[in-house]
Amino acid sequence: MPIEVVILMTRRTLLTGATGTLGRALRPRLRDAGHDVVAASRSPPSTDRADVEWVRTDFAAETGIRDAVSDVDVVVHAATAPRGDTESVDVRGTERLLVAAADAGVSNFVYVSIVGVDEIPYSYYEHKLTAERIVAESPVPSTIVRATQFHSFVHDILETIARVPIWPLPTGIRLQPIDVGEAAAAIADYATPEAAGRAPDVGGPEILTVRELAETYREVRGLRRPIVRLPLPGEVAAGFRSGAACCPDRTVGTTTWGTWLESAHRDRLAAGGHR
Ligand SMILES: NC(=O)c1ccc[n+]([C@@H]2O[C@H](COP(=O)([O-])OP(=O)(O)OC[C@H]3O[C@@H](n4cnc5c(N)ncnc54)[C@H](OP(=O)(O)O)[C@@H]3O)[C@@H](O)[C@H]2O)c1
Repeated sequence: MPIEVVILMTRRTLLTGATGTLGRALRPRLRDAGHDVVAASRSPPSTDRADVEWVRTDFAAETGIRDAVSDVDVVVHAATAPRGDTESVDVRGTERLLVAAADAGVSNFVYVSIVGVDEIPYSYYEHKLTAERIVAESPVPSTIVRATQFHSFVHDILETIARVPIWPLPTGIRLQPIDVGEAAAAIADYATPEAAGRAPDVGGPEILTVRELAETYREVRGLRRPIVRLPLPGEVAAGFRSGAACCPDRTVGTTTWGTWLESAHRDRLAAGGHR
């Protein structure tokens, strides 16, 4: 490719949440797509290869936000604090980043959200929905893309449950997990100079109940623990049971839960981990 074309295609892109599950998968994909990546974190890794530029940013403490966005064309905002101060990181942090992005003349602010945030009244989802509205109403042109749960997220929950001899689980909940690399590839495609508004959802290849997810996990790990139904009352559980966290018409990922688990399990055994 002629050098002038490469220069024209290069864009400077801020990736927030660059150390997170999605952020780590987005970094190489954005780079490979020709972005000059500015990666933001509260604690930039000191040993990382210098193929992205790191900036120290804290959305809760309100530090480093203007510097991070001052010289970029596109923002991919994947920072989140699901187990922390969601209001201050996901809502107020997004608001502050947008104000700085408007001043910097950002042409596309890509906000990563979750399928079902508008239907399931879970407090983290409510904060994500508020953030989506702030993004959509901002003067900064934006793209909002919702994804379903990552395989690794479901896996981490089952790993915690696996420690006890009987697994009490909300077996009727339905999820559509996706490989994070496949989700990242779809999201990276939206990091263009032009905003796309509300983008189509990004989901995994199959919808499975928590019972089915746990049975496959149990089989792959060669365990024999009984799974018992944990009845969960309330609107949040009812929302997940109804399939509101799924997007059956948007099966973007192709890696199934079983395939992903087998591969993760092989990697673990190769690294000397437990069965
Ligand atoms: N996990 C899923 O299954 C899933 C599914 C669909 C959509 N999503 C969405 O995808 C996005 C990324 O999720 P994830 O699972 O990758 O999250 P994650 O693994 O928990 O990573 C969170 C990231 O946010 C950063 N962060 C946290 N608090 C911060 C603060 N105060 N200031 C600056 N950065 C902060 C963390 O960086 P440092 O700790 O290094 O600062 C980290 O890089 C989120 O919008 C999430 O809602 C996730």
